[in-house]
Amino acid sequence: MDAAMMETSLSIPMPPAVGNSSNALSSGNCRGRPDGLLSTMEDSTDITHGCGNASDSEEDRCSDSDFGTSKLGTKEYWEDAYQRELETFKDIGDVGEIWFGEESMSRVLRWMDKAKIPENAAILDIGTGNGTFLVELAKSGYKNLTGIDYSPASVELARNVLQAVDVSDVTVKEMDFLNCQGELKGFDVCIDKGTFDAISLNPDNTKEGKKLYLEALKVALKDKGFFAITSCNWTKEQLLERFSEGFEFVQELPTPSFQFGGKTGNSVAAVIFKRVH
Ligand SMILES: C[S@@+](CC[C@H](N)C(=O)[O-])C[C@H]1O[C@@H](n2cnc3c(N)ncnc32)[C@H](O)[C@@H]1O
Repeated sequence: MDAAMMETSLSIPMPPAVGNSSNALSSGNCRGRPDGLLSTMEDSTDITHGCGNASDSEEDRCSDSDFGTSKLGTKEYWEDAYQRELETFKDIGDVGEIWFGEESMSRVLRWMDKAKIPENAAILDIGTGNGTFLVELAKSGYKNLTGIDYSPASVELARNVLQAVDVSDVTVKEMDFLNCQGELKGFDVCIDKGTFDAISLNPDNTKEGKKLYLEALKVALKDKGFFAITSCNWTKEQLLERFSEGFEFVQELPTPSFQFGGKTGNSVAAVIFKRVH
């Protein structure tokens, strides 16, 4: 299996961004295991990436009615998932899913190193899940770390995972990023790995959710602060459109690519933006 396949847990090749009735996160194609093995979800039937074709207009590609919704967009789903993972962690010390695999963290860490992000930079992990990214950031020397998640079980799991590897002085808070009342601000770097994807899948309010996300992100980041997003539901082009206002594109981080039907595509997009006023 080549690197692109390993990255996204596919059992068959995934076509470049084409369809729009479903998406990779909702079909479970974004999950990786700490050991590098990858898992698929039982309802993995459709394997499209993003919500449309790059040649279409933003309206055509990303209209909210076109974007499939999923239980992965609900708080109940994540609370159940992290309750189970918390129990497993307490039983056998397995941290659970590493979304998009280990490399998804390494590539952001390599970028942070190259960009000379100082060790005392204030870093926010939006939707921290099991807190593994916070652990990796701490291991890389970053000292001013905050993780938030709206799932209480995720927060407990992340705290347990950090404690298990003797990482202290990391703030992990239960908080809905879409309703954080300006409490999150002054960050030099905001990291998102799969959270904007999940928010985009919310069956109730995807359009409003994406708007609130953008607003919260603008408040959270300092001027010239960086936003590092890894997504399997949105292509680079779609992310550039989503984060065009108030953000400047810095660079795309290379992710494994694959070929299908004469086209080349990426299964995961990793993009860095800078907050500008
Ligand atoms: C695909 S998981 C990714 C978790 C983690 N970033 C990782 O890479 O392992 C999405 C995460 O976003 C969290 N999440 C979704 N919507 C959220 C919101 N509105 N506020 C805070 N966390 C949210 C979920 O609880 C879940 O932990």
